[in-house]
Order: sequence, then structure tokens, then C-alpha cells
Amino acid sequence: MRTKIVAGNWKMNNNEKESIQLIDALYESIKNETLKNTRVIVAPTFVNLSTSLKAAKNSEIEVVAQNMHQAKNGAYTGEISADMLKAIGIKTVILGHSERRTYFNETDASLAEKVATILENDLETIFCFGELLEDRKSENHFAVVESQISNALFQLEAGAWKSIILAYEPVWAIGTGETASAEQAQEMHEFIRSIVAKKYNKEVADAVSILYGGSVKPANAEEIFSKPDVDGGLIGGAALNVADFTGIIKAI
Ligand code: 13P
Repeated sequence: MRTKIVAGNWKMNNNEKESIQLIDALYESIKNETLKNTRVIVAPTFVNLSTSLKAAKNSEIEVVAQNMHQAKNGAYTGEISADMLKAIGIKTVILGHSERRTYFNETDASLAEKVATILENDLETIFCFGELLEDRKSENHFAVVESQISNALFQLEAGAWKSIILAYEPVWAIGTGETASAEQAQEMHEFIRSIVAKKYNKEVADAVSILYGGSVKPANAEEIFSKPDVDGGLIGGAALNVADFTGIIKAI
């Protein structure tokens, strides 16, 4: 059975105190829930990772990073390496978020390098991709998603896919309040699984968790998560509010 995942991407929100408070409140809120085959993840900013890991210790909440540089070390002012993340206890890193692609010029090529660094360091990634509104309007969304995935991930050996979680985030649905319909999410997730099966095999395709992200709220989560190829969500705004994030976790 594929692992279900609800991950909160906090983006550039929450200072140290707020991060601890949110993790403590989330712990209280979900401690009596039975999280069968479900991972609950939060992604605070780099400076709050250590504190957040401490706050989440002894709970089922996993703390992951929002990004990572591909180089081992060196003259990359302001950047963070895989080794630095591993040394504090991080095991999973979000890569390729559309905000990083748009504002920080991340490309399929640089993301392929980052994925290679993830694997060299025995880390896991939540790999994000998704089309722009204009891509969907021009009915290019399947082609765009296929190229994002194949350019950054199809150089991997089949065995490496156990370290990959996919996150489909249509850019037009991020932070806009406009979510993809459950049918649109299912249609894309099914397509993604089919291209992975074609490139590798059914076993790899069936095993990879594919998350949906983009304006997921407690009110729409259940319907989206009910689709057979949707294995959970990558949540932005609603992950900053304990009641909303808990509602989404309960929906899964
Ligand atoms: P929202 O849930 O705020 O739309 O953000 C989604 C997202 O970008 C998660 O990575």
C-alpha cells in the first residue's frame, strides 16, 4: 500500500517561537488520531529547522527542509548543503517548488543536480512540479508536467524512486483559493503514474506517492484525497493554522 502523506510547506512564515508553538499545538491536536499508514510533515524555514526538530521529537510529526543546494560545499553565499541538513537530523527535502522555479530561477537542469545530491546523501525528496495557467489554457499541461518530470527525474535508476515523493502543484492553484477539481487532480496524477510506468515499470509507478498541492483546505481535502491516485497533499496557507491542518489530516 502506498504511504499517505500530509505535508505543510510553511514557506517564509513563522519565527522560532511561532514554529515551536505551531508544532506543539499540532501535536496536541493530532495526538489522539490514528495515523494509519500516514506521514505528517512540516517544512519550516532553514533557521528554524533545529528548533523544530527538537519540538517535534517524540511525536509523529516529521520536520523537513524547503530547499537545498546541489553542491557539496564551497563559495555559494547564502546556500545550505545536504551535509548541513543531514548533520542536524533532516532526512527529507522539498525540491522544485514553483516559487523557487519562478523567483530563484531553478530549472529542470539544476533540479536534476539537486536530486542527484539527494540520492548521494541518502536523503529523500518531495519533488514539486506543475503547469502555469497559460499551459492549462493552451492544453499543454500534460506535456509541461511530463517534461518537468522527465528532465529532472528520468535519469534515475528504478531503485532510486524509493527516495522520491512527487507533488503536483498547478501554479494557478497555489495561494489563489482556486483549487484544481478532484477530477483534474486525479486525471493528472493518473497521467503521471502512467509515464512513470512507461519509463520504468508498474511496480515503481504503483509505489510512488503523488501529492496534490494548491489551495487545499479542510473543505475540499476529503474529495481530493478520495481519488485513487492522490496520496495526500502539500499544503501551504492552511498548514499555518492548526485547526485547518488538522482538518486536512483527518480528511486523509
Ligand atoms: P497553498 O496551499 O497556500 O495554495 O500553497 C500550496 C503550496 O504551494 C504548497 O507547497
